[in-house]
Amino acid sequence: MTGKEQTGDRSVGGEYDLVVVANRLPVDFSVRSDGGVDWQRSPGGLVTALEPVMQQADGAWVGWSGAPDLAHEPFDADEMRLVPVTLSQAEIERYYEGFSNDTLWPLYHDVVATPTYHRQWWDAYRRVNQRFADAAAAQAAEGAVVWVHDYQLQLVPKMLRDQRPDLRIGFFDHIPFPPVELFQQLPWRRQIIEGLLGADLLGFQRGGDASNFIRAVRRLTDYTTRGPIVTMTDEDGGPGRHVRAAAFPISIDSTRFDELARTPEVQARAKEIRADLGDPEVVMLGVDRLDYTKGIRHRIKAYGELLQDGRLDVESSTLVQVASPSRENVGAYQELREHVEVLVGHINGEFGELGHSAIHYLHHSYPPEEMAALYLAADVMLVTSLRDGMNLVAKEYVAARSDEQGVLLLSEFTGAADELAPGPVLVNPHDIDGLKDAIVQAAKMDPKEQRRRMRRLRRKVMNDDVAKWSDSFLGVLTAMPRRTSHV
Ligand code: G6P
Repeated sequence: MTGKEQTGDRSVGGEYDLVVVANRLPVDFSVRSDGGVDWQRSPGGLVTALEPVMQQADGAWVGWSGAPDLAHEPFDADEMRLVPVTLSQAEIERYYEGFSNDTLWPLYHDVVATPTYHRQWWDAYRRVNQRFADAAAAQAAEGAVVWVHDYQLQLVPKMLRDQRPDLRIGFFDHIPFPPVELFQQLPWRRQIIEGLLGADLLGFQRGGDASNFIRAVRRLTDYTTRGPIVTMTDEDGGPGRHVRAAAFPISIDSTRFDELARTPEVQARAKEIRADLGDPEVVMLGVDRLDYTKGIRHRIKAYGELLQDGRLDVESSTLVQVASPSRENVGAYQELREHVEVLVGHINGEFGELGHSAIHYLHHSYPPEEMAALYLAADVMLVTSLRDGMNLVAKEYVAARSDEQGVLLLSEFTGAADELAPGPVLVNPHDIDGLKDAIVQAAKMDPKEQRRRMRRLRRKVMNDDVAKWSDSFLGVLTAMPRRTSHV
């Protein structure tokens, strides 16, 4: 863990040509009994995407350690500089659980849960964003590219630009950007827009998200916009810089998933899973963070009604629902867990038989090997989000199915639907009758039709992978003119 020493001139910051700023670092920390700290790589999608560019470009990653009050010096891992940002317990409650996940998250997801607005949370959000911006400014070399990620850090672009006008700054919003009619509920809407406009390039999942942002700029500021470009005026009223807002739909490391699912171990495990489930004709699968945006209750309700109506039965079909624990200190997530578990218990009690559960509910996270085996074991993948920036589970399912079998049932309200249609069976998860019909259609789909759809899906997912995503974002960003003075 020997860290590279800083050699750069402090007045212009550090020595890294590419700095990624994200709420979480791509490592998990654990505190030993002697008080020391260990860390392990946590291979998320973002780090897989960025690792090659980070290694090539001499990159640093600024992010939170994931634990309260955990301070750690910057260190090197896999040819990347990792720079931990420390958050106190109160900051985790106000910035992370509060403003990020109880204000912005529901607001940006079509208010499917009610957002809470607290001034103390906003103060913490500002303070913590400033800390991330300072840490990034200290690492970035003169003229470096800084890529800021997601809704937790929307003020960072402007905070960075104020300190370091020499930088090229990109921001990618991984979640939806809401219509201005909802966004304007936010008491600090103007500051968020200004914060984002500190970037040169703003990336969104869908064209609709980018145009929602542009509409918000038009409604809430005096800046002029032309198509995807916002023109910022400088303080003297002269013409200033341009900010571009565009769609860059994120993807997965498709080849890695495809290869993983082809290994004999994963193939054998998939067979074992089906056998453990009693070899039903149809295995349905849901894989989500336990989050109210995912439509888990709608899906389970529809499934329960199909059992009730006798259109499905527990001998010939089963539903596996993986619901990985998430944001467990936030009230809305606790309520959701209660609701889902009561519903699952009710349906299993009502329709289950010895040796045949209606729903296998798993409140755990699993490693990629097990996920690939589950995808292979599933005849129907149920993605019923009420609103979802992209939904990478849908893409993982497709990447795992080199056998060109299996049906993806996909909510219209996901970014993935914009990209993948017409291959999936599209659903409106609010329409329970429509959802039930679609589940039956998917369960009964003949293998030829499955192959036709899956081929189409695979062409898209295998081609547009996460490396293409990061290359295209960074390609556009680095082609933008470099500024040397404040606007
Ligand atoms: C979504 C967000 C990410 C976030 C992830 C997990 O995908 O876009 O920014 O990291 O959920 O949530 P968590 O709160 O555990 O980081």
